[in-house]
Amino acid sequence: MTIFVLTGAGISAESGLGTFRDPGGLWRRFDPMRLATPEAFAREPEEVHAFYNLRRQGVREAAPNAAHAALARLEASLAARGRRLFLCTQNVDDLHERAGSRTVTHMHGELMRARCTACGAARDWAEPLSLDTACPACGRRGGMRPDVVWFGEMPLHLEAIDAALDEAALFVAIGTSGAVYPAAGFVARARAAGIPTHEINLAPSDTAGLFDTATYGPATRAVPDFVESILREVSGS
Ligand code: APR
Repeated sequence: MTIFVLTGAGISAESGLGTFRDPGGLWRRFDPMRLATPEAFAREPEEVHAFYNLRRQGVREAAPNAAHAALARLEASLAARGRRLFLCTQNVDDLHERAGSRTVTHMHGELMRARCTACGAARDWAEPLSLDTACPACGRRGGMRPDVVWFGEMPLHLEAIDAALDEAALFVAIGTSGAVYPAAGFVARARAAGIPTHEINLAPSDTAGLFDTATYGPATRAVPDFVESILREVSGS
């Protein structure tokens, strides 16, 4: 039995990492078309590097919160019962991993990794990137980029996501506005397959009407409560 959990920026908000579309959010302050597209990187690589170096530093200084920890606990408890948590995140931070989650599917890539546009080699990368950064694999400079999915690029791991959705017994979305596809379409797919759906968010998302049930409030309170209720149910069965 698989529980499919989709997370968005809201789960990291109480760790001090900004969301995108809330008041004061990243895309309210910066133009994503100038900072988060392959064309932007080709046109103004230094601007893009500066933007992502700042975000990378923010992630390094942030700590996982109780919501991340609760999902790590859920993953371990389900595994102990021969069940699976499929944790799919739109986030590019590494807070799920630092909270102890062992398997995290980053459909929008990972900020703490860098990829060479010349040879394609990608690896963990916590330091700032610049045009002088040489690719450790091919030695070329000027082509190292954050290993994240930009607007106009294909999200990652879609086959694994499809397979997990097909076998899910429950679909839960946490801290996402439901504004960006394909992630925003997962709840409709779950409903069409008769899978129970639950939303945990600070406020109703754009797709709130598609969820069977919902809990609205800060993730650091709502997610641990939700995990406890799931574990009571699972241990009772
Ligand atoms: N607890 C729970 N939910 C919260 C909290 C909180 N403390 N703070 C904010 N939220 C909710 C907001 O109500 C909002 O619905 O988190 C959601 C964040 O929405 P967005 O800022 O749109 O972030 P997200 O849904 O993750 O964006 C999806 O868009 O730009 C792309 O690649 C980017 O992965 C991102 C994708």
